[in-house]
Amino acid sequence: MSKKLDIFFGSETGNAETLASEISDELTDAGVENEVTDLSDYTVDQLSSVENALIVISTWGEGEPPPMVEEFYYDLEDGKAGDLPDLNYTIVALGDTSYDEFCGCGRKVDKHLETAGGKSFFERLELDTFYEDEVAEWKTKYYPKIQEHLG
Ligand SMILES: Cc1cc2nc3c(=O)[nH]c(=O)nc-3n(C[C@H](O)[C@H](O)[C@H](O)COP(=O)(O)O)c2cc1C
Repeated sequence: MSKKLDIFFGSETGNAETLASEISDELTDAGVENEVTDLSDYTVDQLSSVENALIVISTWGEGEPPPMVEEFYYDLEDGKAGDLPDLNYTIVALGDTSYDEFCGCGRKVDKHLETAGGKSFFERLELDTFYEDEVAEWKTKYYPKIQEHLG
């Protein structure tokens, strides 16, 4: 049985959600089994059963999570996910360089998952506004790698 990629998004005005669903469609076309989940409907205790994750998340406030994702984020920060030794994860952080805490939420999620024992599968991507070209370039590297990893 081939392995699955769990694509999570944390979004307030839809940018991260749209990007997650675009990536999902393209990976499906490339034969990569995947499932998209909204982090506002998800609890950290479920992470222990996830092996391969792509987390697409924006930053709000001043380096804070999108309001709808606060519960998930603060539970993760508080260590309520427990140990995640089986997790391979990649972060795609959305933000805006005009804010002091550029991509602060994505950076902190990365740190908390690492603290829980997760392994970064692919270097974190940090996106400013107008990220089309950067995403297109990232996909040319990430897609073959995740395809090979998931078999
Ligand atoms: C009120 C507000 C606060 C924001 N705060 C930050 C911030 O602290 N750091 C950052 O990098 N981007 C910040 N952003 C930019 C958003 O992360 C960016 O617009 C992102 O694309 C939104 O994605 P979403 O629609 O998926 O929520 C902020 C945007 C708004 C409107």
